[in-house]
Amino acid sequence: MKKLLEKKTVLISGALGDIGRAVALAFAAQGAGVALGDIQPEAAAAPLLQELTTIGVPCHYTSVDVSDAVAVDRWLQAAEAALGPVSMVVANAATVTIAGLYQVTAEQWRKELQVNLDGAFHVTRAVTARMLEQRITGSVVFAGSWAGEVAHAHIPAYSVSKAGLRMLSKCMALELAPHGIMVNEIAPGYVDAGLSRVVWEQAPDQKEQARLKTPVRQLITPQQVAREVVRLCDPENRHITGSVLLMDGGLSLL
Ligand SMILES: NC(=O)c1ccc[n+]([C@@H]2O[C@H](COP(=O)([O-])OP(=O)(O)OC[C@H]3O[C@@H](n4cnc5c(N)ncnc54)[C@H](O)[C@@H]3O)[C@@H](O)[C@H]2O)c1
Repeated sequence: MKKLLEKKTVLISGALGDIGRAVALAFAAQGAGVALGDIQPEAAAAPLLQELTTIGVPCHYTSVDVSDAVAVDRWLQAAEAALGPVSMVVANAATVTIAGLYQVTAEQWRKELQVNLDGAFHVTRAVTARMLEQRITGSVVFAGSWAGEVAHAHIPAYSVSKAGLRMLSKCMALELAPHGIMVNEIAPGYVDAGLSRVVWEQAPDQKEQARLKTPVRQLITPQQVAREVVRLCDPENRHITGSVLLMDGGLSLL
């Protein structure tokens, strides 16, 4: 049976994180080649590359800092040379600093916005500019967060970066709609993974509190996020663009 994304290539930033890895494997399961990028060194990518290669998935890894636009361009060139044209991109890399407005340093604030917002801009702009040049249609997915909409006093820099990402997604969606490139954001709530885990490691009781606070009384798994990201890249989709797929178990209804 033909898979949904056969002969297509996706570029994923933050691909060695919990959600990034799950996203890579979900695209691979649908037949896509995967261009992985993360700030971590090459050696850290070896297990995931091995897993993908074993199941016959074309894949490539670049160690890249997404806040460096020139490095992002080099990443894309290397990915295209290895895997061919890229028609899907997932801007997933992010960091989180747990520090309120009067604790966070100016340097931390700037760094977080540089990675989470500028980085997403560099990655998605580079890929979509090439798609426009090559006249290919496809999809962009931004990894946003419910924190982009609901105020969180302990992570203001992260929340502001995700709020900015939402408007970046909408502006890009408007600009690219006539070219058949669909641009959307996924906004998860508490995922039992990466960035939340960092918070919960410092305050373990908060994990159970997060579950109980969520109206559906469940934390999200990285695989559940990944499934929705792939769905947003369905080539049959010609209408869903500029949308926010809120996946927060009802948190923002509170
Ligand atoms: N975990 C959650 O609860 C949650 C909830 C909502 C949204 N999200 C979003 O999902 C995405 C993935 O988060 P995660 O939970 O898997 O976190 P994670 O920490 O496991 O993954 C983030 C990855 O980004 C990479 N990265 C950091 N800085 C980078 C840089 N400058 N350049 C390139 N790569 C860099 C890290 O090395 C890491 O592998 C993020 O955008 C996050 O905001 C996560």
